Amino acid sequence: MMDPLSSPVLLLQKNADLLEGMRILMLEPESGAAVTALAKTAEQVSVFTSDCRVRDQLESWAEADGQNTLCFGFGAQTTAAEHDLAIVFLQKSKPRTDMLLQQALQGLNESGRLLLVGANKAGIKSWGKRIEKLVGSVEKVDSARHCVLFAADRPDEVAAFDIEQWFEVNQLDQADLEVHSLPGVFSHGRLDVGTRLLLGTMENRIKGHVLDFGCGAGVVAAAVGKKYPNTKLTMVDISELALESSRRTLAANGVEGQIQASDGLGNIKGRFDLIISNPPFHEGISTRYDTTENFIRASRRFLKPRGEFRIVANNFLQYPAIIKEVYGHCEVLASGDGFNVYQARV
Ligand SMILES: C[S@@+](CC[C@H](N)C(=O)[O-])C[C@H]1O[C@@H](n2cnc3c(N)ncnc32)[C@H](O)[C@@H]1O
Repeated sequence: MMDPLSSPVLLLQKNADLLEGMRILMLEPESGAAVTALAKTAEQVSVFTSDCRVRDQLESWAEADGQNTLCFGFGAQTTAAEHDLAIVFLQKSKPRTDMLLQQALQGLNESGRLLLVGANKAGIKSWGKRIEKLVGSVEKVDSARHCVLFAADRPDEVAAFDIEQWFEVNQLDQADLEVHSLPGVFSHGRLDVGTRLLLGTMENRIKGHVLDFGCGAGVVAAAVGKKYPNTKLTMVDISELALESSRRTLAANGVEGQIQASDGLGNIKGRFDLIISNPPFHEGISTRYDTTENFIRASRRFLKPRGEFRIVANNFLQYPAIIKEVYGHCEVLASGDGFNVYQARV
């Protein structure tokens, strides 16, 4: 079932006159449906997304109309400065939104306008002042549906967008790892408590082909590869920001692995000796469990005979019941700080 359009998208639709006849750049729209709903009266639309699910939803749309373009990536590609309007959808992470605003300015022509839209509960109200620092003066175009739409003219001088400036490099002493990450990637610049607990189970022997589901900046897979150099690693995430961070984390730690974009296990082929994960339960500003529940249910088909399933999760989540349903048992391998590491075998 398709998700309904969010309030920020409905607020943009209410202000559809702003989009009419424009060449528009949309950055990180929530879904393909949001793009097609907003694209109706535009002259041309370019979409930038780091989310492979949005890419999959828009591939045929971009192909069907030779005018529109779709860019799936982490931000390294230069966007031509040819757009009249750039729409940035507010992200949960402030530095991620900062990054998108810079990227948006680069894609505007000299008289181009920037729009930022988001929900009050996501913190949009504080952004008026924050964008002012970047562009000078900002106009509050509309506020309705518990959302705000800001607009600003492109300033005369726009700094070149350089993706390299946005990577953060951190040493994780607990795991003896160097971690590279972009804003918006889970646990950017620090080690998550759940991940730390999962890394504490590395003494439980790991061998063969390992799948790290929801790899984020690549901490778990890099730790496995460093401790067990004979393992073969596959890493998957829905976000290209995460996958590029993972590529760099692996390289920095002298570990090799195959990295793949996938929504859930949809694009994964083959069977594994171990599926290891700190699976997602946040999506944007809302909490969703269905991705992880579907992942647990599908995981068994991707394991070899005697294969192992190992995940960390908040101990209030109802995952053990689903793991038991799928594997017939569920052990607790480690516990602490409100998290458990669950293990099951085929
Ligand atoms: C809790 S984070 C864990 C990141 C990393 N393994 C760590 O421990 O630091 C979960 C990851 O799952 C990814 N994710 C969210 N939804 C997904 C989906 N439907 N399919 C694949 N990955 C997804 C997120 O992008 C995020 O990087």
